Amino acid sequence: MKTIKKCLFPAAGYGTRFLPATKAIPKEMLPVLTKPLLQYGVEEAIEANLETMAIVTGRGKRSIEDHFDISYELEHQIRGTSKENYLTEIRNVINACTFSYTRQVEMKGLGDAILTGETLIGNEPFGVVLADDLCDSENDGVLKQMVKLYEKYKCCIIAVEEIPAKDSNKYGVIAGDTIKDTQYDEGALVRVNDMVEKPEPKDAPSNLAIIGRYILTPDIFDILRETKPGKGGEIQITDALLEMAKIGKVIAYKFDGKRFDCGSVDGFVEATNYFYKKSAR
Ligand code: UTP
Repeated sequence: MKTIKKCLFPAAGYGTRFLPATKAIPKEMLPVLTKPLLQYGVEEAIEANLETMAIVTGRGKRSIEDHFDISYELEHQIRGTSKENYLTEIRNVINACTFSYTRQVEMKGLGDAILTGETLIGNEPFGVVLADDLCDSENDGVLKQMVKLYEKYKCCIIAVEEIPAKDSNKYGVIAGDTIKDTQYDEGALVRVNDMVEKPEPKDAPSNLAIIGRYILTPDIFDILRETKPGKGGEIQITDALLEMAKIGKVIAYKFDGKRFDCGSVDGFVEATNYFYKKSAR
């Protein structure tokens, strides 16, 4: 089995919850402090030793490609000045990995966006990062933790966190059986046998919600090709993963760290305050 070298970033969504800001600016380019959400995601993937960043974009998302490229004029202008160090981080990112892009033509849902990325991924396991879920941890990053788990179990890994019951209709919610593994905390690993997309609290099979980090095996593409539109008329990755879960090939992982839902205004403000305080430490 191959190791994981590629990371897919579905970034074609409209980001309607951030209108009007997202009318001309991709949601993934909104900055928390001075860094766009997508750059945090790419840095997390680099930390997990992934080398190719495969980004699924859409109309109006060209600034994403420009961000992960050299800006000759700007760089020439500030070369040798005290401002040059503002570009150090992004330069390090550009030097550490390669970027490839494809476009999702119709926004038919996250499942469709992932299937669109097949052309960039090919026949190998890969990471998926939804950049609007911003993660932070004191030790290993969330994706790095998941890659480690994949190396051991060689199946799909999905990151989950406990949510209040009233929020179940914002997430995919899982159910399954605890896996006993002495290397992990009790209850941290669950062999998934059921998943429901955005259930009402009374229908939620647990309080464990899927967040925007996945390790997927390439057989997911064949399943996605057959997946019909589900909740909201969109092709849902949750529906495709349920097929894998039925044959025992999905592990949910309660990751170590924090997650901010930067696709919502509340989560975005919370993340901004958190990273501001952290930067002042
Ligand atoms: P969201 O559910 O947050 O949708 O997508 P959205 O369109 O970005 O935002 P709202 O709900 O309108 O405010 C989750 C992730 O899946 C990607 C988004 O870019 C985001 O990273 N996505 C979603 C696609 O790439 N294509 C789609 O068709 C849908």
